[in-house]
Amino acid sequence: MSAPALATTSPVEHPVLDVLARRWSPRAFDDTAVIDEQKLSNALEAARWAPSAANSQPWRFVVARRGSALHDQIHASLLGANQLWADRAAVLIVAVAETTKEDGNPYTHAVYDLGQAVAHLSVQAHHDGLVVHQMSGFDPETMTSIVGLDERFTPMTVVALGELGDASTLPEVLQAREIAPRSRRPINETVIVNH
Ligand SMILES: Cc1cc2nc3c(=O)[nH]c(=O)nc-3n(C[C@H](O)[C@H](O)[C@H](O)COP(=O)(O)O)c2cc1C
Repeated sequence: MSAPALATTSPVEHPVLDVLARRWSPRAFDDTAVIDEQKLSNALEAARWAPSAANSQPWRFVVARRGSALHDQIHASLLGANQLWADRAAVLIVAVAETTKEDGNPYTHAVYDLGQAVAHLSVQAHHDGLVVHQMSGFDPETMTSIVGLDERFTPMTVVALGELGDASTLPEVLQAREIAPRSRRPINETVIVNH
């Protein structure tokens, strides 16, 4: 299945994989859609196969389906505008970095590696026709206590995952963001040395 249609694909300067051109972060989720368990597993499997420093795999995921108490608690820990839409997502996933090893030394690239795993998850989900929206806007202390994480682990983002919904379900201010043009710094300012 192809990724959900956006009004336009990203205005890429060079051709990229279709799933990358079409990926975006919507806020309108279909609150009637139950997660397709196979697609959820596919997304988590894609994350599992991300590369990491010394294959340390310093990532963990806490998965909460809509209707569960955990989904409600994760939603309640979100800040600001995230509160206004994320409860509609079929699944909320807390992406957790293992920032400290069992021997007390730091995993220096844990956050980098976790981000790469979430990128894999996101691309797989969009490829399978789901949509993903990551959020760093949550209260980390509340989240740590909800999920029961020990101090070696740091919650980094909440990932809303589900089916694309109707933008008209969003408050007006968020509807405007849903259709705002997406942009990126030009590639010639992004590649800062290119001999
Ligand atoms: C680490 C991270 C944190 C983010 N936090 C939030 C957030 O708290 N709330 C929100 O609405 N979007 C959040 N986003 C989504 C970004 O705003 C979005 O990815 C960015 O504007 C680019 O848009 P696109 O994903 O549609 O290309 C976050 C994205 C990332 C990767």
